[in-house]
Amino acid sequence: MSFCESESETQALEPEARRRGIVTALRAKNGTEFALSTHPQRWLLGSSATCDLVLDDPYVSATHCIVERRTGGSLLVRDKRSRNGTLIDGNAVEAAELPVGARLAVGRTTLVAVAAPDGRGPAALTSLRGRDPAFLGMVEQALKAAQTDCNVLIVGETGTGKDLLARVIHESSRRANNGFVPVNCGGIPRELIGSELFGHEKGAFTGAHTDRDGYFVEACGGTLFLDEIGELPMELQPHLLRVLESRRVRRIGGASERAVDVRIVAATNRVEHLGTESSKLRLDLYHRLATVVLVLPPLRERMGDLAELVHGMLAELAPEHGMKSLSDAAWKALAEYRWSGNVRELRHSVVRAVALGGDTLEPEHFFQELRMTWSRALDDVPNHEPLVPYERVLRGAMERAIAAHGTIRAAASHLGMPKSTFADRAQKWGLLPRERPRLPISERPRSGRKRDEVGDGEPPADAEVDVRRARGAGEAPGPVRSR
Ligand SMILES: Nc1ncnc2c1ncn2[C@@H]1O[C@H](COP(=O)(O)OP(=O)(O)OP(=O)(O)O)[C@@H](O)[C@H]1O
Ligand SMILES: [Mg+2]
Repeated sequence: MSFCESESETQALEPEARRRGIVTALRAKNGTEFALSTHPQRWLLGSSATCDLVLDDPYVSATHCIVERRTGGSLLVRDKRSRNGTLIDGNAVEAAELPVGARLAVGRTTLVAVAAPDGRGPAALTSLRGRDPAFLGMVEQALKAAQTDCNVLIVGETGTGKDLLARVIHESSRRANNGFVPVNCGGIPRELIGSELFGHEKGAFTGAHTDRDGYFVEACGGTLFLDEIGELPMELQPHLLRVLESRRVRRIGGASERAVDVRIVAATNRVEHLGTESSKLRLDLYHRLATVVLVLPPLRERMGDLAELVHGMLAELAPEHGMKSLSDAAWKALAEYRWSGNVRELRHSVVRAVALGGDTLEPEHFFQELRMTWSRALDDVPNHEPLVPYERVLRGAMERAIAAHGTIRAAASHLGMPKSTFADRAQKWGLLPRERPRLPISERPRSGRKRDEVGDGEPPADAEVDVRRARGAGEAPGPVRSR
């Protein structure tokens, strides 16, 4: 099957509401859908005629990425060292899950992951669980703010629900029927972010072969969610401030401005110095974004919500696995754990337990992977390189951080370590996934890998690896072949 999208169309996809369920097709702007079977299988996407899904886009590499159906139904996308990268919801990824409603961008083509018509699930508000008074007070504020057009800044540790809350605000606002456009300011290569946000004119920089609208225009009438706003490069912050003040956007390299009717919700987990001169976010921009500030409490500060959260997750998993219950020992273990990865880490743990356990889940089902990783990893350490106790502790913390956060950047930031130091130590101690040898396409298996095989030596399903280093920092984006 072959898709061809004209350049002007790629940035104007119809908004697709977030839905739960299994992705059953990739939909292009013109409505064409590429159906994806629900059986374990792989599809190769690229501009080469040998691909399963052929994309007629000069910015797409011959074999650009692989989409893989895994046992259980989830879809995994792997970049195949493409020249211009593979993005999910604006994040450059090396390997990551593609959920329903997510936007897969390859070259200048954007495809929306859609579910079968009956896959519609609860809206964000009904997914949001918790009765803790502070949490409920914050949700009430969010719903009030949703009724206005004011800018909202959501602050909270990783996994506390910033993304979910941003969707709640959008869905509860007058903009609900228009687009919710999420942009991860920390996930887009630095040299691309200006063009992604504001668009560019043909010839504005090397590789800008056509005019292009940015996310501001795409979000017109809807909500622009600027995630990880603290990662926005300093030099772009005045530009963003101007757009927020004037509500007009000018493409990079352009002369004229265009009015944009967009509500901004921003989020950050970098609370240090927020709202002070020492913050990475300019003070004037902070004040512009923080008309309403919503602070999401970490899970350890609302452990009264643990049971409701776990029961909700068990109920979501019940159609596939049957309704499970927890032993007293399991509840105790969950209550005593610190959950530094917050609700996301809890969800991963529950999913793991449901997959591994019987009808009654025990503590080892929730934490088994960590224990196995810990003991196996320590066994792997060569005898001639004994670890001193401090290093053993650090290594364990790093392993848990990788398991909980999925990316080197997030894990390093969680431990307050410089990313380079984290990466060096993780490399030295063998904590990183190994590279797979690259085979010609013809020699690669096309389908039917078992779940256990997927993880062998490869990034975990939810890993989002910063591909800037992998592709070479500073490499200018550009067409892959001339037409
Ligand atoms: N109150 C909640 N009720 C139910 N599920 C929740 C709640 N908060 C978070 N979750 C779930 O936890 C997971 C992580 O949430 P989310 O992605 O919104 O966190 P985040 O704060 O944006 O994290 P990050 O800073 O890493 O981007 C999601 O699966 C989300 O649905
Ligand atoms: Mg988030």
